[in-house]
Amino acid sequence: MAVKIKTLSGYFHEYQKSVVNPEQFWGQQAEDFFWRKKYTCVLKWNFKEPRIEWFKDGQLNLTENIFERQVFTLQDQPAIIWEPNDPNEATVQLTYGQLFEKVKQFSNVLISKGIHKGDRVAIYMPMIPDLAVAMLACARIGAVHSIVFAGFSSTALADRIIDAEAKMVITSDGSYRGSKQISIKPLIDEAVEKCPSVETIIVKKRTGIPVTMQAGRDFWWDELTAGASFDNVATVMNAEDPLFVLYTSGSTGKPKGLVHTTAGYMVYTSFTFRNVFQYSQGDIYFCSADIGWITGHSYIIYGPLLSGATTLMFEGIPTWPNAGRFWDIVEKYNVNQFYTAPTAIRSLMAEGNQFVEGKEMKSLKVLGTVGEPINEEAWHWYHDHVGKNRCPIVDTWWQTETGGVLISPLAGITPTKPSYATLPLPGIQPVILDNEGNELKGNSVEGNLCIEFPWPGIARTIYGDHERFQQTYFSSFPGYYFTGDGVKRDEDGYYRILGRVDDVINVSGHRMGTAEVENAINEHPRVVESAVVGFPHNIKGQGIYAFVVCNDMDESTSEEGIIHSIKIGVNNIIGPIARPDKVLIVSGLPKTRSGKIMRRILRKIAASDYTNFGDTSTLLDPMVVDQIIEKSKTLK
Ligand code: PRX
Repeated sequence: MAVKIKTLSGYFHEYQKSVVNPEQFWGQQAEDFFWRKKYTCVLKWNFKEPRIEWFKDGQLNLTENIFERQVFTLQDQPAIIWEPNDPNEATVQLTYGQLFEKVKQFSNVLISKGIHKGDRVAIYMPMIPDLAVAMLACARIGAVHSIVFAGFSSTALADRIIDAEAKMVITSDGSYRGSKQISIKPLIDEAVEKCPSVETIIVKKRTGIPVTMQAGRDFWWDELTAGASFDNVATVMNAEDPLFVLYTSGSTGKPKGLVHTTAGYMVYTSFTFRNVFQYSQGDIYFCSADIGWITGHSYIIYGPLLSGATTLMFEGIPTWPNAGRFWDIVEKYNVNQFYTAPTAIRSLMAEGNQFVEGKEMKSLKVLGTVGEPINEEAWHWYHDHVGKNRCPIVDTWWQTETGGVLISPLAGITPTKPSYATLPLPGIQPVILDNEGNELKGNSVEGNLCIEFPWPGIARTIYGDHERFQQTYFSSFPGYYFTGDGVKRDEDGYYRILGRVDDVINVSGHRMGTAEVENAINEHPRVVESAVVGFPHNIKGQGIYAFVVCNDMDESTSEEGIIHSIKIGVNNIIGPIARPDKVLIVSGLPKTRSGKIMRRILRKIAASDYTNFGDTSTLLDPMVVDQIIEKSKTLK
């Protein structure tokens, strides 16, 4: 029987078991699932190549474990509750039975359009139930979904489609976000022009805005499903067959498509969902993330549905019609577990307490956060005003690469400490290494966070580039998975995540590679070179600060116009989330004699910290620093 931990001593007991005999521990967690063919080998691995195989020779289909395995008992229980953007529009509730029918039907649509096991399908959709149907239908027929957050630009979408060689795109005519109606289909058309691999586009009608449909390529979702059968037998998958690709930013180059596989991801997301959130049958669980990110994959769809949970999907934004929207939703559906990002908490906190006061939210039992470090002030506000001092907060640390939560309290079980992710989940063996790779043992240490043993949810490769996977995660500290995060282990052995130690910044809980933003800025015709760093931002956690060198600048040049067009350019190339908050046009960047930009100096200037720049003796031209400082003081 899979474990559900109930006490702190139970946690320590399970943790111990998971470290002493990981194969036995994870074998036990996999037992409850429905296997077409049972695995004989739980784990084979090395972190050198790396090669990680869980439940290797087992065969299964993940959707059979959501539907066929559970539908007998859960037929009439809501699987998905959908809250539309407009609170006055009717909500949709799909029971497990109804969702199953829709998934089978759409699976048949995919098959009828020539999608086979192993084909990649890109999905670019707003938060509507059909997005869940599309991804589950892919999983059912063995197609690999690649969901792209529907805030990315057409260029960013095209890059991802090209990299994944997707055969199909599933999308909608448009979307609603707060008071805005957004057009989507033209953006898809523009992207697909550059993507010869795409044969078919399926369009779900959401807003009804007129769109152009290309005969033979574009089809309306509703027309295709109208004639499709509800009979569908799931495709048998090998445990290590890919389930999905999800792109994320890194410190170098273009975004990487992390590949997650079937059985390990299934076992890990359901185990962590049940234990971290302490979900009980009948609870209503609400995660406010977008399904376009890993949080939505693992903890709106797969983890909850594999656990027979009722998961709430919200189409809108937290501040519309007003900043009490989340709390209205909690009261409307009697939400029991609520999971969001610190940036959302900070922005709602800034709107004032009037939106949360008077909302009793008696149903709430557990609050969660994810995506970035939570500052103490936001933690206390969340705890006192939202949780009314009675709900434990689970500060869950994890990554796109990890598939599920690695370090987190178990709700109501692990004693919490504001801004600490606390203790590793069973099966997770964190180590802290100094920059030379020496392990820092014991408590009260700080360094690079690495993991020394695999867990079932770890990504297996980067799509089409295993070498890059090895280089990015397994080469800095041979023998370990390197997370890219700095961490402190305090005197109680509790972990506190300190943020990225590489050139990745975390903007509103979204990961952004500085190189990616720089590449977009450098496309501007006036830009010679640029350097992007993060700076502390009250709401977003980190903001984006770009130092830019332009050509042909003289007294008469309007910097304002150039700065504006640089920002628009980034918007168009990546999307609004990458738009720099601050752009400073400078005459040069602080470089060493070997041409390397000294980012730590820029980071300090961006944070308005002009003291103690450390050793600057290797700088080619130290005067540049003074010039940048002076100019930065003029920037609002
Ligand atoms: O720096 C860490 C931060 O987010 C990074 C992972 O980003 P992404 O792959 O987009 O996944 C976000 C959602 C899982 C991590 O390397 N991060 C995530 N959760 C936390 C966090 N930092 C501090 N505390 C957290 N709870």
